[in-house]
Amino acid sequence: MKQIISISLGSSKDDYEFETEFLGQLFAVKRIGADGDMDKAAQMLLEWDKKADAIGVGNIKFPHAIAPRYLTQKHDDKIKTLGKRIQTPVTTGNSLRNVSFEWSLRYVEHKFGNYFKNAKVLFLSGMANYKIAKVMAEYTDNLTFADPVIENGISKLIHSIKGLERYAKGSHEILDWLPSKRLTSSVVPLKKWNNYVLRKAMQKATIIVVPYYNFYEYLKGTTLEELGGKTIITSTAYTDRVEFLKERGVDVIIDTTPKILERVVAPNVIEALILAALEKKSDMVNDDDLLEIISMQKMDPRVVYPSGKEKRVNRFAFVIHPLSKEFLKKEKAVDFISGFAPPVFLDAVEKVIAYAPPWVYSKVTGVRSPTGAEAEGWLISVGGTPKQMLAHSPEFTYTRLLQAARMAKRMGAQIMGLGAFTKVVGDAGVTVAKKAEIPITTGNSYSASGALWAAADAVRRMGLIDIESGKKIAAKTMVLGATGAIGSVCCRLLAKAFDEVIMAGRNTAKLLALQQSINNETPEVKLKITTKPDRFLADMDVIVTATSGAGKKILDITKVKPGAIITDVARPLDLSPEDVAKRPDVLVIESGEIELPGNPEMKNIGLPGNIVYACLAETIVLALEGRYEIFTVGREIEWEKVREIYKLGLKHGMKLAAISGVNGVFSDEDIHKVRDLAIKIREERELDATGTSSGGQA
Ligand SMILES: NC(=O)c1ccc[n+]([C@@H]2O[C@H](COP(=O)([O-])OP(=O)(O)OC[C@H]3O[C@@H](n4cnc5c(N)ncnc54)[C@H](OP(=O)(O)O)[C@@H]3O)[C@@H](O)[C@H]2O)c1
Repeated sequence: MKQIISISLGSSKDDYEFETEFLGQLFAVKRIGADGDMDKAAQMLLEWDKKADAIGVGNIKFPHAIAPRYLTQKHDDKIKTLGKRIQTPVTTGNSLRNVSFEWSLRYVEHKFGNYFKNAKVLFLSGMANYKIAKVMAEYTDNLTFADPVIENGISKLIHSIKGLERYAKGSHEILDWLPSKRLTSSVVPLKKWNNYVLRKAMQKATIIVVPYYNFYEYLKGTTLEELGGKTIITSTAYTDRVEFLKERGVDVIIDTTPKILERVVAPNVIEALILAALEKKSDMVNDDDLLEIISMQKMDPRVVYPSGKEKRVNRFAFVIHPLSKEFLKKEKAVDFISGFAPPVFLDAVEKVIAYAPPWVYSKVTGVRSPTGAEAEGWLISVGGTPKQMLAHSPEFTYTRLLQAARMAKRMGAQIMGLGAFTKVVGDAGVTVAKKAEIPITTGNSYSASGALWAAADAVRRMGLIDIESGKKIAAKTMVLGATGAIGSVCCRLLAKAFDEVIMAGRNTAKLLALQQSINNETPEVKLKITTKPDRFLADMDVIVTATSGAGKKILDITKVKPGAIITDVARPLDLSPEDVAKRPDVLVIESGEIELPGNPEMKNIGLPGNIVYACLAETIVLALEGRYEIFTVGREIEWEKVREIYKLGLKHGMKLAAISGVNGVFSDEDIHKVRDLAIKIREERELDATGTSSGGQA
């Protein structure tokens, strides 16, 4: 059996001894604490020389990876000089530590998929964790380094690797704040203001990197407020450290030290084990050897969930806008002034607000999928009402959406959705997606899916159409705005389920092209196109209206068949409450809104509690799934995507919200009333018709 000795400058109270197997060999491992006494440590090194197969030296302050020479050498040199005098291989574990930083980050990013993408990462010491910072910079630009605050007492943070490098070289302008202009390497007692700066930085971060050495000193005074819900990256997270972080509500601990033994041991012990197993001196083992052993032995980093439950919080942003100038009155100041100002005041506000830079309307929290994944995000508002967006060129809206995307990225969002009219103008998100620095989705796949999900539910509950499983439904359907992004995919989906689809639009060429393409996909369906929908309204059982008419009169509800179901997908709605009130025998539903899983919280978006528009739900589903990619853009929505997002939605606990109309949610009783009235009118019409015809014959 080979003997491994770990001489630690830490406390002798934590000494241990155990036997283990590694790379097919048996080892006895013994830790001896020198209680901070360097001479005692040196004495022990000499004592164990030639008796041990490898010696690890632990709990020394590792040299910074970047810093002036006077900071990188001090500690390391003493040990190196001593190590050279003895014959047994000696290691501080520094090589393994550096290799494992990189390995563990890449491993977590790969295994959990986009884990660090655009995360907001705070390094309590960027100089100590420079290797981690370099790798992290590949995944996110949102890096903050607290080195000046913690080590030099300067109340400034650094926000880039380049800045950190300049600071480490002593050439950062921040250092002008110091009389000595010289870096230190110690955690300095924080003054009140610095303490405030640091606490705020911790609260804003989603991930905090804490150096191993001086771990408790770095986290002194932190509470649930700073660490609650965070991911902590550190090395060698012993039980006491895990307990400390658990008490402060930390969600995830990523321990960069590879876990090869049941017991958590420091990198020097693992590196000593490797040296002894390979029977090599420390300078004979290079980074590649270490990486090979790490990957062959599956020495994965330890991911600890202090609460015992797997946790992952992904982040999204979603752009909204006021639906009309009346919505602007929700702003208190506007409402107050519009109370006595002439009506032109609101017109002026509408025009001016369209130019405003985007602002955060609400934070969204508490979305929790049954898979355990969580999502949080921001609703970012741009100022333009549909009228204003249509009055300007598409570039006007693109500029504001790109500003919103930059803002979203800075806040740590990993995907951004475009709400209502922001994706109607121009090319439906294509240009924005090309230029934005984070993935964009219009949410239209889920909007289309939600609209038909709701229509199907309404058809079932109305019970006026026979549905035989496995067979096409013998009923007539119509889509208004059929050539649009949502309209066209609704046509495709209806064609798969119903006997007959009438596609209504304004542009015959576009309608013909759509007809051709659906005929190729679904040859058995009866397809008609029209630019005059009113002619067919009286025969339609199901109507979907998805135009961007922005409140213009789109269909004459008085001509619709009694008992018809109209799904109004448009925002603003294509049918006004006054129109809907004209036909109590017709079920008008406001497309398919989605009920989010968990306990979502956000400011009012005009829908009850945990209900959101399907396009927002698409953005959230993609965030929960960690699918940070351009999902739906442009007007050619693939129906495979509609199916995919529907399935992903079910996986993450999304439900179709109770179907609602202009007066709120429809109860079964409401629906029965509509149906009974429709049946009555149909019967009366039939009687009239037979009466007239028999009367005619008489
Ligand atoms: N409920 C939700 O969750 C949700 C989600 C996303 C979008 N929406 C809303 O859904 C609607 C459609 O969005 P989209 O992305 O599909 O828009 P789109 O691609 O621009 O399509 C709009 C369609 O409406 C037609 N149209 C425009 N003005 C019209 C008018 N005055 N009369 C008749 N037809 C008219 C267009 O016809 P042409 O081809 O002839 O121009 C086009 O077919 C919008 O109101 C949008 O705000 C709702």
